[in-house]
Amino acid sequence: MAEPRKIIIDTDPGQDDAAAIMLALGSPEELDVLGITTVAGNVPLSRTSRNARVVCELCGRPDVKVYEGAERPLLRQLITAEHVHGKTGLDGPVVDEPVMKVQDQHAVDFIIETILSHEAGTVTLCTLGALTNIALALQKAPDIAPRVRELVMMGGGFFEGGNITPAAEFNIYVDPDAAKIVFASGIPIVMMPLDVTHRVLTYKSRVEKIRAIGSRPAVAMAEMLEFFERFDIEKYGSDGGPLHDPTVIAYLLRPELFKGRDCNVEIETASELTVGMTVVDWWQVTGRKHNAKVMREVDDQGFFDLLTERLARL
Ligand code: BDR
Ligand code: CA
Repeated sequence: MAEPRKIIIDTDPGQDDAAAIMLALGSPEELDVLGITTVAGNVPLSRTSRNARVVCELCGRPDVKVYEGAERPLLRQLITAEHVHGKTGLDGPVVDEPVMKVQDQHAVDFIIETILSHEAGTVTLCTLGALTNIALALQKAPDIAPRVRELVMMGGGFFEGGNITPAAEFNIYVDPDAAKIVFASGIPIVMMPLDVTHRVLTYKSRVEKIRAIGSRPAVAMAEMLEFFERFDIEKYGSDGGPLHDPTVIAYLLRPELFKGRDCNVEIETASELTVGMTVVDWWQVTGRKHNAKVMREVDDQGFFDLLTERLARL
């Protein structure tokens, strides 16, 4: 059997980030989580670092190493999303405060050291929040770029527009300058935009299947999803909210669930109206170099079956 794929999860939990972490930790045969790096985004950094550890402990994995990263975007004020995720970022279940500690090493240094110390082409970056830590790592050690196997991100939107402004998706909007650096880095990128994530909806029947697993992490996840979806149900008028971040991990486990194409993607950083927009050359009209595989279609039921199966393994 093939060695599990080595991944670093860069994240700002967030209930949907928590689902992504659980999906990864429930898949040890395929994925080796070298570390979790935190970034400010959905909530401030101290909370995302706390939440990452809460999730690891819920999964019975206090051994997972959590590294704290950037407190704010490269050049801009931090924008947070408590209106979606609640005050703690992980509202929903009652959870214990984590006992495990964050590592002493800064997340950016951990990312650099890990990529340089592993064989080139073996470490995959999974980004579930603003791209600040990755951009800082690229600025500090540009030689990491050609050594990264792949960067799979939740971010952006094109046909679907934005979710924090009409043009911009939240993760890119929080730190568009970082996103610009990452998209120009030459790292092979796979992008899970809103075009995909708005199709994986937490229907009640799906949440109930997760709750019915009955384990502590699964019940906590069902409670998180119930909290998380209330905002989106109102916003989109659907029977469930989009479950963005676990699409990144699902792609590593079952890439055939997704369909997309290689494109050029540029990030808008100047216009006040459209800052944070991912300008995707889907129809290949510019001749600009491809720098990302942009996903557009998903087998949503296949995705939820996978998530439920792996949560049951925790
Ligand atoms: C993204 O923004 C965050 O609120 C979610 O965790 C997800 O990563 C969706 O736009
Ligand atoms: Ca996130």
